[in-house]
Amino acid sequence: MTIAPAADNQLGLPSSTADRRVLMLYVHVPFCHSRCTFCDWVQAIPNKDLLRKPGDSVREKYIDALCREIGERGAELAGTDAMSYVIYWGGGTASSLDNDEASRIMTALRNAFDLSTVAEATIECSPDTVDAEKLAFFRELGFNRVSSGVQSFDDERLRRLGRRHSADQAIRLTHAAREVGFDDVSIDIMSGFPDQDLDELRHTVDQAVQLPINHLSLYSFRPTPGTFMRRRMNPDEKRGYLRDQKHLFTQARRLITAAGLTEYASGYFGKVSPFAAMYFQLRADTVGFGSGAISLVNQQFLSHRKGLLHSYVDAPTSFDIAVPASQDRVLISFLQAGLAMFDGILRDEWRVSTGTDLDEVLTRPAIAPLADFLRGRGLICDERGIRLPVRNVGVTLIELAFEMAMSQPELA
Ligand SMILES: C[S@@+](CC[C@H](N)C(=O)[O-])C[C@H]1O[C@@H](n2cnc3c(N)ncnc32)[C@H](O)[C@@H]1O
Ligand code: SF4
Repeated sequence: MTIAPAADNQLGLPSSTADRRVLMLYVHVPFCHSRCTFCDWVQAIPNKDLLRKPGDSVREKYIDALCREIGERGAELAGTDAMSYVIYWGGGTASSLDNDEASRIMTALRNAFDLSTVAEATIECSPDTVDAEKLAFFRELGFNRVSSGVQSFDDERLRRLGRRHSADQAIRLTHAAREVGFDDVSIDIMSGFPDQDLDELRHTVDQAVQLPINHLSLYSFRPTPGTFMRRRMNPDEKRGYLRDQKHLFTQARRLITAAGLTEYASGYFGKVSPFAAMYFQLRADTVGFGSGAISLVNQQFLSHRKGLLHSYVDAPTSFDIAVPASQDRVLISFLQAGLAMFDGILRDEWRVSTGTDLDEVLTRPAIAPLADFLRGRGLICDERGIRLPVRNVGVTLIELAFEMAMSQPELA
């Protein structure tokens, strides 16, 4: 049965209710052509798995397992009033899939879910893995949005980040994406590398805002243990790094906004992405497929732990973590993610997705210190939900992420 999306809130996006679930279908592709020195998404994946190429037998088994997981979990959800609204293929590098691999995964999704209600289907691309032909193929396969990691438009910086593309290749990607019919094109850039100065960042922002994109994500570098860049940082200079990070991020925001892209969530500018809004605000159940993917389905938090490619291949429907979404640790991560949205965390959506009451959650012993910290930053609490004042969102979340990352010991 097809359910028309209800434009029942400020952003005109649907939300799950007790008897009608909205779904986000996330596919995780844990392969890249290289390992970037800053990247904390793949630090748990050993090189021998991360760098596997098409045709490699483990990689083939991974795609088989992914299709199996999609089929089995789709069958579990079949017959419910669930409406698929967003598709997102990320990683890793989703665009490192060859055409055959990508077709197999999309066919598995089509067989398992009704995709006629999908409003946004994004594929994450890195500039070294796509050309116009490949982008045209992704468009034909059903994607309507491209999100590309660029990080910087400075070739020397790109080299030091371990990227395998130039600034020019990134620029060409955005033009090619538009030419083959993508109306929605987004790029990621980063600020706050330990040795970055404002001139360098200004150059990257200036280049970014001139491109034919309608969305820009600005990420402040998180010094997560296990990343090459974190290993090079001096813990004694922690205060200085954080001060510089906040300054660079604030300046970049100012420049991007001045160029005409409106910020709707911390570091997210331009046309509101349903994926981002629904993820931050828990408007939908997330069904995540693949090693490293997380799911939030029927108030349960499920996760295949990152990096365990081989155990995933053996048992793609058994989870390493399966706990009620009402657990403190799960809720802390949802709180931090949700506050990124300027519109904030919405009471009703939170209750439907986690089965908990927002006010009660903020008084829990494990969560109250975070709530007190947020109140110190001006947390607004009203009948709609909770949010931070716009001027405080970015720096507050940078501080939380930075402190959390730096408080974890560097991996041996
Ligand atoms: C999951 S990655 C995939 C991007 C894609 N593979 C590429 O490199 O083109 C998505 C984005 O996360 C951001 N990212 C990765 N590691 C980060 C870190 N340590 N701190 C902040 N942002 C990070 C980068 O901007 C990256 O483009
Ligand atoms: S930034 Fe992208 S390409 Fe680089 S290691 Fe991370 S996921 Fe792979």
